[in-house]
Formats: sequence, C-alpha cells, structure tokens
Amino acid sequence: MPDTRPILVFDSGVGGLSVLGPVRALLPNAPIVYAADSAGFPYGTKTEREIAVRVPALLGRLAERYHPRLIVIACNTASTIALGDVRAALDLPIVGTVPAIKPAATMSRTRVIGILGTDATVRQPYVDDLAARFAGDCTVLRHGSAELVKLAEAKLHGQPAPAGRYAAILEGLLGQAEGARIDTIVNACTHFPLVEDELAAAAPPGVRFIDGSAGIARRVLALTDGQDWPDSPGEGIAVFTRLDADAQALAPALARYGLTRLEAL
Ligand code: SIN
Repeated sequence: MPDTRPILVFDSGVGGLSVLGPVRALLPNAPIVYAADSAGFPYGTKTEREIAVRVPALLGRLAERYHPRLIVIACNTASTIALGDVRAALDLPIVGTVPAIKPAATMSRTRVIGILGTDATVRQPYVDDLAARFAGDCTVLRHGSAELVKLAEAKLHGQPAPAGRYAAILEGLLGQAEGARIDTIVNACTHFPLVEDELAAAAPPGVRFIDGSAGIARRVLALTDGQDWPDSPGEGIAVFTRLDADAQALAPALARYGLTRLEAL
C-alpha cells in the first residue's frame, strides 16, 4: 500500500502557491492539501497575539482532519510569529518560511538590501536577528505593504492592478535614505513572488528579487527522503476556512497547481 499521507501547505491566502509550485516540481506524486485561512485573511495587518492564537489552533484542526506527513507554513507572517508554538504543539515536521536575508546578503554587491513583507513581518524581532546574523555588513531597509498582498490575490482572480501601483509600493523601500543603492530585494511574503514580474518591471534596472521558495522545496525533499509516495501525480485539495464565492472563483487558478478539489474546513 503506498503512503498517501499528504504534505500540508498552509497560508492565509493564495501566497503559499508560490511555495507549492517548487514543492510540486520536486515531488510530483506527493498528495497535497493546500489550506488557505480565507476567514482570517489578511494576516499582515493582525496583531502578534491574534496570529499566535489562530495559527496553531487551525493547524491542529487541519492535522487532525488530513493526517499530513509534514506541514509547510508557507507564510512569512505566520512563521515569524507562530513557528515555535506550532512545532511545540504538533508531533510532525514543520517547515517554516522566513525572509531570505542570508542569500540576499550573499548576492548583494552594493551591500544595501531591501525587505518587502507585510507590516507584521517586517517589524518582527526574528527579522532583526536574521539581519544581524547574516547581513551585519549590509544596510537592511524594510517596507511593509498590505496593498501588495491584495494585488497578488487580485491577480489570481484575473484582476490587474491600477497603473503605477507597483512602482508606488517599491518607492516605500527605494525612497528611503540609501534606498537608491538597493540592488537586492527580499520578497518576504509568499504572496509577492506571484507578482514578481510586475515588481521587476517597476523596479530600476539591475535590482534583483529573491525569495525562499526553492530552499523550502529542497528542505521538504530532504525531510521526506526515503519515504514512499503514490505511483501517479498526487491528488490536490484546496481547503478554505471560508469557502465563499471568492474562494470558489479561484478554482481555475488552483487547478493550474493541481488543486482540483475545493473543501471547507
Ligand atoms: C497576509 O495575509 O497578509 C500575507 C501573509 C504572508 O505571507 O506573510
């Protein structure tokens, strides 16, 4: 009997799809449960306390229902606040998503890097720690944007952004003192790689964007090394904490990631 336990990928909304894509590429036969906390979206404007209570409780319910072999918290906001509590509460491997500051510092020539995340992520002490440990010789500028999260969700719904919005959001980083010297921007929210083409088109030439999704996929591969998988491409379920018309309208976009069944939690 093949091991049909899924990998559970969790996010507040559709951002985790930017992590699911690379995971699927490395493990095409893995059964996937993609969980979106649509009832709690967005996380980036919530308090630390709200996220610290909500995320472990939801992941507990999801683990009970789907019996995953591993969970990926594909959300920087949830990971930087609740990863420790989720690991303490659940007896299975939990992979988190944290800003890719270390590779950004390795890549940067100007030694000025930007972190683009949610308001909640960019103010986390965890991010201060990463910057101090891995980018001590860089100037690290930060900008939180709730609007960019919404633009990424809207793109999946087929709705283009009003002209000039990406440039205006980037100005929040590039307009800071020393911001004009930024050559590497960390997409510190899993929603943002979904609009990376638009961001890159709006950024000055030579600015590169980086995120942690490929590294997360490699970590999932390593943690499941030697495990058994079904013989054919894994079934994909998208589960929403609120399965409303908005969530249903995402069905075609979700199907592109192999998520062909929609469920309510
Ligand atoms: C959000 O829900 O605000 C985005 C969460 C994230 O990926 O950090």
